[in-house]
Amino acid sequence: MATREAVLQALRKIEHPDRGKNIVRLDMVKNLEVEDGRASFTLVLKEPGTAFADQVEEACTRVLHEEIGRELDVEIEMDSEMISLGDDIGVSGGGGEEKEEQPLTDVQNTVAVASGKGGVGKSTVAANLAVALAEDGYDVGLVDTDIYGPSIPRMFGKEGHKPRVNSERQIVPIEAHGVKILSMGFMVDPEKAVIWRGPMVSNAVKQFLGDVAWGELEYLILDLPPGTGDIQLTIVQTIPLTGAIIVSTPQPVALSDARKGVAMFEKVDVPTVGMVENMAYFTPPDRPDRKYDLFGRGGAQDLAAELDVPFLGEVPIEQKVRETSDDGLPVVRSYPESPSAQAFDQIGERTVEQVALRNAEHDPTQKTEILYR
Ligand SMILES: Nc1ncnc2c1ncn2[C@@H]1O[C@H](COP(=O)(O)OP(=O)(O)OP(=O)(O)O)[C@@H](O)[C@H]1O
Ligand SMILES: [Mg+2]
Repeated sequence: MATREAVLQALRKIEHPDRGKNIVRLDMVKNLEVEDGRASFTLVLKEPGTAFADQVEEACTRVLHEEIGRELDVEIEMDSEMISLGDDIGVSGGGGEEKEEQPLTDVQNTVAVASGKGGVGKSTVAANLAVALAEDGYDVGLVDTDIYGPSIPRMFGKEGHKPRVNSERQIVPIEAHGVKILSMGFMVDPEKAVIWRGPMVSNAVKQFLGDVAWGELEYLILDLPPGTGDIQLTIVQTIPLTGAIIVSTPQPVALSDARKGVAMFEKVDVPTVGMVENMAYFTPPDRPDRKYDLFGRGGAQDLAAELDVPFLGEVPIEQKVRETSDDGLPVVRSYPESPSAQAFDQIGERTVEQVALRNAEHDPTQKTEILYR
């Protein structure tokens, strides 16, 4: 059966000869539509009309016929490569204003991890997701935007580290467990930041994200502070976001806040690429066959279905998750066989899928429009 997923899966088999990655991963497939035995999409290339472009086009049709069936009607439109992510950051308020400095030119996808309620495991999910993606071979960065309670430095064993500044006066992120990390915790004293108000936080984040030597990244994950207030809204408007992941525990209070999270991103036209249920159930270390639903399992999954957003997976409560976070080696790395690590791996895979779907749906000329305040 021709589904969007099946078509993307087939197209992933086509590697770009020079760039060593498949065409879906390189965001070359846009405007994908699949219905009634027909698949149409735009193939975005640096130079359409060349012999190379024709070869890629032929390869797409061939692979789709092989993988899905000869009867599939394949329609491919060619387009030239869009300007990169950083180039189309809009400036609000119409003409006349100067364009702000454009951060993140070499970053393909930016994903914010958020929740309404505090303490539900955003930082844990963000950290493990970043490591899981890096282990799958992606180039990944992780930014901790929580000025009041940064936790990424500790989770990566880099507390007290100070990133260096290169000759172009850019901040150089710190590498840990295959991920380039940067934290407000490296830059500001949390005790001093407690009295900062929204606009100050926003300015700090803008400045902080604007001049970082990320290099080329396929995913930049943003760990947001808890809540859906002004601070979060300003941060998500500071950079162009590909999508958001909402983390919730199964309890009703957390779920009602998760709902607000999805609504907040909708307000700024950022799609929720998925929801994660953290602390979904408890399995005692000595009885791995038992699963206890402490908070009422499945709530986040139901909410995802109700709001029509993808569900990425459920992570059990495991002592190891907390211990390894405190010790600076996320569970995906330290206990890859544990149920929680497996859950994070799956969440990573589904995130990649959903981001690809989201990118394939978007018109190349219409990236999420970001309005600066
Ligand atoms: N699945 C889990 N199993 C066991 N402990 C967990 C799990 N997820 C998170 N924790 C622990 O719960 C605490 C809160 O998690 P975390 O810091 O990730 O939440 P947060 O949503 O980022 O919090 P904040 O709102 O303060 O930013 C941490 O001590 C963390 O180690
Ligand atoms: Mg946190």
